Amino acid sequence: MLKKSVAFLSVVGVLACIVFSMNAFSGIDEGTVTDPAFERKTRGAVFFDHDMHMDAPGVMDCATCHHYYEDGELVEFESSEGLSCSECHMGDGGNTLPLIEAYHQQCRSCHIEQKAGPVTCAGCHQAP
Ligand code: HEC
Ligand code: HEC
Ligand code: HEC
Ligand code: HEC
Repeated sequence: MLKKSVAFLSVVGVLACIVFSMNAFSGIDEGTVTDPAFERKTRGAVFFDHDMHMDAPGVMDCATCHHYYEDGELVEFESSEGLSCSECHMGDGGNTLPLIEAYHQQCRSCHIEQKAGPVTCAGCHQAP
């Protein structure tokens, strides 16, 4: 009996950890994209809702946006969700899309493709 309740408690513990870690990105879950690499912003903040995007057509999983590359090759089924886009997209050596373009290309092209979501500057960037 004791063994069973210990097992039950650890299942509860694991579930709690999962729920807790799912909330770990609540900072941006529903909020504004704030890449640390943009020190002085010239445009208004961009609203982004993670939860809503998980249900958006064209989004397969986290790696649809948080893709992971190694030696310039896309690593399938691997995701970079712990990393900022700027970890890789600083355009160093011309190997990666510069950061602004990385954001614009990812966000905007999907909106165009899906015919849904904002595509104009003011549609994404709120009035400063
Ligand atoms: C439609 C695109 C998209 C999808 C899908 C998406 N994310 Fe994100 N996520 C972003 C963007 C953009 C940022 C902001 C990146 C930054 O600040 O560098 C972000 C930020 C984060 C952050 C904060 C990282 C940081 O640098 O502060 C975490 C954690 C995260 N996402 C986890 C996830 C997880 C887990 C999933 C899947 C359940 C997911 N994301 C799906 C686009 C997406
Ligand atoms: C682990 C490093 C890494 C991270 C993190 C990363 N990228 Fe990339 N990304 C690359 C590499 C390498 C390429 C291929 C070279 C290129 O096109 O810049 C690429 C390609 C792209 C492309 C063009 C090809 C495509 O898939 O459409 C876009 C757009 C893009 N990244 C946007 C983003 C955004 C937005 C984020 C953050 C949510 C992000 N990347 C996070 C490394 C990364
Ligand atoms: C793979 C596709 C995809 C990507 C990538 C994507 N979006 Fe979207 N987005 C959508 C779709 C589809 C909708 C419309 C959803 C709806 O109306 O139900 C949308 C809607 C939106 C909206 C409007 C939300 C609302 O409440 O009306 C905003 C703002 C937005 N996206 C911002 C972004 C930003 C910022 C990024 C990049 C960090 C991004 N999106 C990347 C597919 C995408
Ligand atoms: C689909 C959404 C979307 C559209 C449309 C869009 N942007 Fe952005 N833009 C972003 C996101 C997301 C970032 C990254 C914001 C951050 O991390 O602070 C960004 C960053 C920027 C930055 C660098 C940060 C800053 O504030 O200086 C500039 C400049 C910018 N965008 C200009 C524009 C202009 C000009 C247009 C219209 C031609 C435009 N954007 C259209 C989503 C969008």
